[in-house]
Amino acid sequence: MRKKVIAGNWKMNNDLNGTVSLISELKKGVTELTKAEVIVCPPFTSLETAQTLLKDSIIKFGAQNMYFEESGAFTGEISPSMLKSVGCEYVVLGHSERRTIFGETDQIINKKIKAAVKHGLKPIFCIGETLEEREKGITFEICERQIRFGLEGLTEAELSDLIIAYEPVWAIGTGKTATNEQAQEVHAFIRGLVSKLLSETFAQKLVIQYGGSVKPENAKELLAQTDIDGALVGGACLKADSFLKIIESV
Ligand code: 13P
Repeated sequence: MRKKVIAGNWKMNNDLNGTVSLISELKKGVTELTKAEVIVCPPFTSLETAQTLLKDSIIKFGAQNMYFEESGAFTGEISPSMLKSVGCEYVVLGHSERRTIFGETDQIINKKIKAAVKHGLKPIFCIGETLEEREKGITFEICERQIRFGLEGLTEAELSDLIIAYEPVWAIGTGKTATNEQAQEVHAFIRGLVSKLLSETFAQKLVIQYGGSVKPENAKELLAQTDIDGALVGGACLKADSFLKIIESV
């Protein structure tokens, strides 16, 4: 049985005050009785505060991005070891907003995944098709390309803590969730592909999250699908009550 993993991607939201209040609220709701593994991904400026606040909590935390180089003249960037130094366990990589707004390619994302695992950071690797690609009928092709290039040159051992997040771009922040069937179909495809690329045993253990307008109202049914092992939540993770409801629906 794969454990359900619910992660909150805060995106560019919450200053330090907002971070303290949201994490404090979440800590009250996430206890030893919580069935899901819970991760929060605040902005860089809140990571150290998250580390302090989450010392006595089972809630884990991660960053939303990082650069692949160790150090040097890369103005504005954050390295894997910097994330490690503030206690990050996870890092979201390849988010569609990074791909579309900041021009990240599959090759850049591949370098980032390599750098993350080298430093013991667990990647939450995002993939997903745009509306245009879905309408053209090339959803599987797009997801396959992103996974093949994203994971190129990485071994099963290196990827042992990998999480893949399937986030159809047309469902992100739009209120338009993929149907349970649409999501399950792609998740099953991803698991099948990973089984071919790595191994069946690896694919069976792999956590594949769904992301894109996950809300308390649709979480339970999505999470009940055979190949949906969790959720990567955007908008609905910014309020403790809605994020806790999603966590409780596991
Ligand atoms: P929304 O839940 O706001 O659609 O965002 C999903 C997402 O991009 C999580 O990474």
